[in-house]
Amino acid sequence: MDVNHHYLLQLATELNDLRPGARILDYGCGNAEIVEEGRKKGLNFYGADIFYDPNPETRIGLQARGLLGDQVREIRDGRIPFEDESFDLVTSNMVFEHVEDMVAVLREVERVLRPGGLVVALFPTMEVWREAHTGLPFVHWMRPNSVYRRNYALILRACGFGTFKTRPLTKWVGDLLGYLDRYVYYRPRNVVTELFSAHFSVDWIERHHVAYRLERSRLRFCKRLLNFPPFAWFATAAFNRLAFVGLVARKPSDVEAAHIPAWVPKKLIGMSVPQVGSVEPDPS
Ligand SMILES: C[S@@+](CC[C@H](N)C(=O)[O-])C[C@H]1O[C@@H](n2cnc3c(N)ncnc32)[C@H](O)[C@@H]1O
Repeated sequence: MDVNHHYLLQLATELNDLRPGARILDYGCGNAEIVEEGRKKGLNFYGADIFYDPNPETRIGLQARGLLGDQVREIRDGRIPFEDESFDLVTSNMVFEHVEDMVAVLREVERVLRPGGLVVALFPTMEVWREAHTGLPFVHWMRPNSVYRRNYALILRACGFGTFKTRPLTKWVGDLLGYLDRYVYYRPRNVVTELFSAHFSVDWIERHHVAYRLERSRLRFCKRLLNFPPFAWFATAAFNRLAFVGLVARKPSDVEAAHIPAWVPKKLIGMSVPQVGSVEPDPS
């Protein structure tokens, strides 16, 4: 599990502390490490994924581990194979940049969430500087199939940039740019906000996520600086450009939940709801 998985698990654990038995879905769970780890910790964690073509081994691995079918389910014809209003929290790590039809997916996510249920999603938007799948800066801002983009990728790859560098140069460029065109859909942050806002109240959780990361790094002394608005603004803006965004959304509810974890931004719950719990990172 990487730091994002630990972070999402921490948020899920805190929600479960306040609502014992809370049901949690990891959307686009891939090989479902977070589902397995969450279950080991006693959380009611499930996963769903379309298992897209580039990773055929994922589904095979899940089958071999006996997870596929119950705890982890395959999304077919766009339907998340779970009941209406059956989850308190949907987590998602590095998935929404792969979703072509966001309108349909968000409708499904809303369907499976209980009123007042939450979504926490980590994924890059168009504004990111380094395209993470290829490892090349700004390549996702260039026109698909342009000679200019191909030559740019060739030169940068020849200079040592890029991911998965075992393939020969021209094959690497063809494969990686092909993957980008077929499986990655970057959207500007304001478009993401608009799409989610059709179903949810939306806010951002990057400051909280950056604090979590700092706490676990050698730069933990910087965490306090996040209390200064200009530093917090700079740190989160830099994080968005260099890594990804963290979005939190809440399905509307007439009845406010009695217990809402402290990581839920106040904007999404109103000031009158008592805040319980904290998300101080696990020091281990
Ligand atoms: C980069 S992987 C991330 C996997 C996992 N979330 C993790 O953190 O390890 C992207 C995953 O998104 C899934 N995916 C792509 N498009 C999807 C969609 N429309 N709905 C659900 N899952 C999707 C892929 O099958 C793949 O497992």
